[in-house]
Amino acid sequence: MLNPHEWWRGAAIYQVYVRSFADADGDGVGDLAGVHSRLPYLAELGVDALWFNPWYASPMADGGYDVADYRAIHPAFGTLAEAERLIAEALDHGIRTIIDIVPNHVSDQHRWFQEALAAGPGSAARERFWFREGRGEEGELPPNNWTSQFGGSAWTRVPDGQWYLHRFASAQPDLNWQHPDVRTEHEEVLRFWFDRGAAGVRIDSAAEVVKDPNLPDLVEGADPHPYLDRDEIHDVYRAWRKLAESYAQPRALIGEVWLPDPERFARYLRPDELHTAFNFGFLTCPWDAERLREAITTTLAVHAPVRAPATWVLANHDITRTVTRYGRADTGFDFAAKAHGIPTDLELGTRRARAAALLSLALPGSVYLYQGEELGLPEVEDLPVEVIEDPMFHRTDGADPGRDGCRVPLPWSGDDPPFGFGGSPTWLPQPADWAGLTVERQSEDPQSMLALYRTALRLRRSESALGDGELSWFDGYGDGEVLAFTRSERFACVVNLGAEPVQLPAGSRVLLCSGQLADGALPPDTAVWLRLP
Ligand code: GLC
Repeated sequence: MLNPHEWWRGAAIYQVYVRSFADADGDGVGDLAGVHSRLPYLAELGVDALWFNPWYASPMADGGYDVADYRAIHPAFGTLAEAERLIAEALDHGIRTIIDIVPNHVSDQHRWFQEALAAGPGSAARERFWFREGRGEEGELPPNNWTSQFGGSAWTRVPDGQWYLHRFASAQPDLNWQHPDVRTEHEEVLRFWFDRGAAGVRIDSAAEVVKDPNLPDLVEGADPHPYLDRDEIHDVYRAWRKLAESYAQPRALIGEVWLPDPERFARYLRPDELHTAFNFGFLTCPWDAERLREAITTTLAVHAPVRAPATWVLANHDITRTVTRYGRADTGFDFAAKAHGIPTDLELGTRRARAAALLSLALPGSVYLYQGEELGLPEVEDLPVEVIEDPMFHRTDGADPGRDGCRVPLPWSGDDPPFGFGGSPTWLPQPADWAGLTVERQSEDPQSMLALYRTALRLRRSESALGDGELSWFDGYGDGEVLAFTRSERFACVVNLGAEPVQLPAGSRVLLCSGQLADGALPPDTAVWLRLP
């Protein structure tokens, strides 16, 4: 039996992008009251926890990842009292709450940054950030060659001539983690939310937080890297782990750690650091049996020595929707990346997304489900330019389509926009042809994506072999195009990524299939959960 304090080892966690989940007050923007009204939906879906994207006061220069005040809820979303009530009432439904912490940067409207601007060069207030003089005769060039993740230079110049560092948008100044205030403040923010019942935190850009204070130019292959995965970061998370464990019900720390080197990744999961971290190797893997097997094997091998459970993620608010991605041929470029206009076959993509759902829900560890994935929503690739908010789009002059296409408000019911979401117009327009994808419509259809997720999540809870635990490859089963593994002597998952139907093991009984068996065989792009004899 899993220790209830270790719920995070096998949880199914639903990601709520508040702005686009449900709108109770009719302004076209999702809110906490909307989430509250849909708690029965989430409970019925069968998830163990909710992870909320940042819900704090913010100018929304990057969808709330520009936090102006961690102790206040964004007014469009609701109030602190509502957040407290939501955390408590979700728990009444057996659902824990995870909040998002963004340690790398704050909003340029944050009190600290405003103080720093006002206080001027050389002031103590500027020490909490990375202010520097520019290079060149007149200081007209940025202090180094670092670029923003969203395009362009990572530096912006202020009227007094100094420059400040922002690895993301210019409205997101990077904090200086060498500064004791920065550490103390974040620990207080963690306590603030843990005291209000948050069961854990998702840590944004967790490996990018600490910088080389000399801010050297980035040179290819630099080791240590000047801003990625620096050793000093581990002290920060060790302190957070102590804090998380000071609670009678220890809180969980979940890192957003994008690192190519699995060994370096695993260091974040040592027993006195983070509890889990997102597994992006799996997410970025195309629909290819060899590569998926390799991604799964590497993931498990890397987690084993630190005894941390793996996480399985198919989608989030930064990634092209799954059915759109899997409907494309592997183009060879970063599979998860935003690239619109590449032809996709949504029928094929949906079939594969259904199979991928059963695959990821059967793998050992915890699993993340981004809102709308349970409805099989496609990426919205034709948003009018005027409505696009993502700085990734704007900082690249549209060369990068940005991430708004996976952030479109959910369709709940009815035949026309806003499909029961709330007020109209919605902050991003919904495609007019989403009537078939609403929760209402899919609830009536036992073959829908929603029905599949509901059944799979229910089974995942009742099958003791699922969630945390071990996996064994089903040796000698099928060929290279088939992923087959057992989670116990009696439970197997088989996924057919090949072009031919596959015979199922003799004497096995189907618990759940992502499609229809044909003459007892598993068709291409289909997955099945089996009870073994
Ligand atoms: C993370 C978030 C992303 C955000 C960025 C900057 O990658 O997931 O949405 O834009 O950090 O905070």
